[in-house]
Parts: sequence; C-alpha cells; structure tokens
Amino acid sequence: MSTTQLRRREGEVVANRPLGAYRQLSVVLPALGVPARPGQFVVAPPARADQVLPRTWWVSGEHTEAGFGSTLELVVPDTGVLPAAGEGLALTGPVGRGFGLPTTPVTAVVAAHGVAGAAGRWLGERLRTAGCTVHLVSVADDPEQHVDLVRARRGADGVHLTDLRGSEDTVAALAGSTGASVLYAVGPVDLSATVARVAAALAVVSQVTGLEAGASGLCGYGLCGTCDLPLVTGRRRGTRVRPCVDGPVLRGDLVDWAGHP
Ligand code: FES
Repeated sequence: MSTTQLRRREGEVVANRPLGAYRQLSVVLPALGVPARPGQFVVAPPARADQVLPRTWWVSGEHTEAGFGSTLELVVPDTGVLPAAGEGLALTGPVGRGFGLPTTPVTAVVAAHGVAGAAGRWLGERLRTAGCTVHLVSVADDPEQHVDLVRARRGADGVHLTDLRGSEDTVAALAGSTGASVLYAVGPVDLSATVARVAAALAVVSQVTGLEAGASGLCGYGLCGTCDLPLVTGRRRGTRVRPCVDGPVLRGDLVDWAGHP
C-alpha cells in the first residue's frame, strides 16, 4: 500500500441520495494523482465517537475535473448514520490494487454481492469500454438488495440474478455457455472462493476481492490481521496474504480458499 493511498483527504459530501436499499454518496476530494479503479475501497471514520474501527466502503465510480477535484461515488448500506450533503468527510484511499483489465477484448463474467454490486457494475462498464463482452451476476439473498438493476442492464450484455447459494451454479453455467476467459468477483470472501473454484475447474483466469469492504471488524490499514488469507503452498511471500495491504484484488488461484476461516 503506497503512502499516497494511505493519505487521508478532507472531502465534502456533495450528494447523499437513496438508491434502492442503499445510499449513494458523492464525495469531492482534492484531485487524485492516479485514477481510482473498481475493486478499490476507501476508509472512513467510525460512524460514532464511541466506536474504534473505521468504516470501509467500495468505490463505485470516480471522475476528476481540472480545477474542481475528484468525485468518488460510494454506494453504502443505509445505516442512518451517514453524512448529509454539505458535510465534511475525511477519507483514506482509494486503497489498494483494483481489478486489472484484459489487454485484448474477451468475454468476462463479473459476480458481485449486495452493496458490492455497484463496484461490480462499474467494473463491467470499464470492461465494455475496453471492448469486452460482459455478463453480470448480481448475488443477493433478498431481492431488494440487488443494486440499481436498470443501470446494470445498460452497462452489461446480460444481468443474471441469484443468491449466494445459487452463485456457483449460475457462474459456472454462464462461464461455460459464454466461453468466458476471465471471471471476476467483488464482495464477500465466500463469493470470491466460489468464483475462484469455478475458474479453476474451467481452467480460466479469476480476479477476486480478498476482503469484504463493509464487513465488521476490519481496520482497513493492515494492522489487525482480520483479513489475512492463506496462500496456496509454495507460492511467493510466505504463507499468508493480507488483502487490505496486498490486494484487495487477488488472483483467485493464489489463495488456499479451503483454508480460509
Ligand atoms: S483489515 Fe486489518 S489487517 Fe486487513
């Protein structure tokens, strides 16, 4: 994690709108030196003064205007303790390694769970801009928790809805029928493990998030060890990876998913 990424920036919330079951925050920060990428997250202060751990949120969009700064789009759970438009908000990030895009147009499957669907949708839009054919799999255990399906359908060649239990069959069937050569996952580690397993069975590449932004107990700064994952034996850099420092996006075949807690 670079010191640039770790710098906390004073920003201003310029919009806080409802988005289905979630809220969409637009936060203006001093201009980012490097554009944000899908798969990155930000670290925000705790919701209340009596809480210690910060909040972590996926970045779901960014645009930078000369002389104005960078606006980050953040789709977040509607907790009732979010800053209103006009309030200041200090953010660290965008943190970490985002998703890489293929160098030539391919068919891709992007699976995203719940609130991470906004980051998955942004990834899908980036992939389409790069000439890829994109199938989104929106995973949610409650139908209300799929994010903004109208925009998702505009930005992908197909959108498929499922729940976490059905995600493995859905991703496998879709990847097989479309001949996808890269599978992506953003959201809970269980979904990442599922997508990495499907990719391994089909002998295709996977890029997945190694932590779930928004999950409880994360420090987001590489200090607590909560996000650690075991690496496949014999891989580089010892036996574990710390996704908030070394990721959050990881190659699916590097992690020993069977050994994650
Ligand atoms: S979230 Fe604390 S070390 Fe990664």
